[in-house]
Amino acid sequence: MNKKIIRFGVIGCGLMGREFASAAARWCHLTNMNSEPRIVAVCDANPEATQWFKNSLASVEATYTDYRELLANPTVDAIYCAVPHNLHAQIYIDIIESGKHLLGEKPFGIDKEANALITEAISRNPNVIVRCSSEFPFFPGAQQIVQWVRENKFGKIIEVEAGFWHSSDLDPTKPINWKRRIATNGEYGCMGDLGMHVLHLPIRLGWKPKSVRALLSKIVPERPDGKGELVPCETWDNAILACEVETSTQQFPMVLSTKRIAPGHANTWFIRITGTELSAEFTTKNPKQVASLPYRSGGVQSWHITDTPYKSAYGTITGGIFEFGFSDSILQMWAAFCDELTNRAEMMQPFYCATPEEATSSHIVFTAALESSRTGQTIALHWEE
Ligand SMILES: NC(=O)c1ccc[n+]([C@@H]2O[C@H](COP(=O)([O-])OP(=O)(O)OC[C@H]3O[C@@H](n4cnc5c(N)ncnc54)[C@H](O)[C@@H]3O)[C@@H](O)[C@H]2O)c1
Repeated sequence: MNKKIIRFGVIGCGLMGREFASAAARWCHLTNMNSEPRIVAVCDANPEATQWFKNSLASVEATYTDYRELLANPTVDAIYCAVPHNLHAQIYIDIIESGKHLLGEKPFGIDKEANALITEAISRNPNVIVRCSSEFPFFPGAQQIVQWVRENKFGKIIEVEAGFWHSSDLDPTKPINWKRRIATNGEYGCMGDLGMHVLHLPIRLGWKPKSVRALLSKIVPERPDGKGELVPCETWDNAILACEVETSTQQFPMVLSTKRIAPGHANTWFIRITGTELSAEFTTKNPKQVASLPYRSGGVQSWHITDTPYKSAYGTITGGIFEFGFSDSILQMWAAFCDELTNRAEMMQPFYCATPEEATSSHIVFTAALESSRTGQTIALHWEE
């Protein structure tokens, strides 16, 4: 098949920038794609970070320390931007105004105001495709749950719980970094960092909360600064949001949690739905298993644990007997973005990357959660249609 080569620039060559490089480098893993990303230009304020790309990817033609120079490169079609949250608004807006397509990292602006500025830039440039990174829904188990929701298998939904939990911050000697400082990570704290991952599916499934009551915790008050001093650890470590959802057919409670300090959990993303006719759960803790409990009046209530085959949104060379993992979900997300850049409304499969509107929805929820935490009140949310 003749593939359209999409010439990418990467701005921010840290943890996530390298994940994209790895996904692009193993594109041969995917079958039947009619597009392929080629990382031709990279930019990081720290030149050492770009050196890894030069060493690892033969496709890199140019490196920059100033992203504006990368944006002036006319041979670059699209950008992946993975920089600290305080830089999202300025850099994303400049990317969009340059006419290059963008897959930007969450939370898509450090706060609601920054997010609104990005939204304005998008509306000024309707031909630019902009999407927000969120990979976990591409796990086959998550896709299975989405399918069951779309098929109305759950009956009356009793409750939804979704979360993303980490535990490395349990160690109080872990040095502070930009993700623990309000100036760089934002007031949202763990919600800005982890929350878009948790909200992506609920928002995609039409479950916008009509109210939120938030319990936010700061657990480790200070951390080493790496220079022998202890400095304040300013951001929220954990957040539990009790939401009320009302759709045209359903009304149910939804508990969303983002935790940096959840002992025993390393990158645990999960969604659990209980319903009168089906209950189901997928968690990345058991990445190949989906739990389901179908129920008929008077019947047995028994959980079924099924090993989901490696059956991803985009076909791969991996046999169905093998397991799917984090880097596979990243590859699938990139396949969806490149598919959409190439085939627009005629995507090869229907699950598209998180949209800027979905990211904006997450900002509405997090901003209300901060207000709830400040006032101790349940905050009503107002959604513009
Ligand atoms: N999708 C996911 O699973 C996931 C996971 C982790 C982080 N993230 C998101 O990715 C983004 C980056 O996080 P990270 O963990 O990769 O951080 P990181 O600190 O590892 O990397 C950020 C990079 O940006 C660079 N940088 C800073 N200022 C810059 C500038 N002005 N121009 C160019 N480069 C600059 C830094 O030098 C650093 O190399 C954040 O938005 C974060 O929320 C997403």
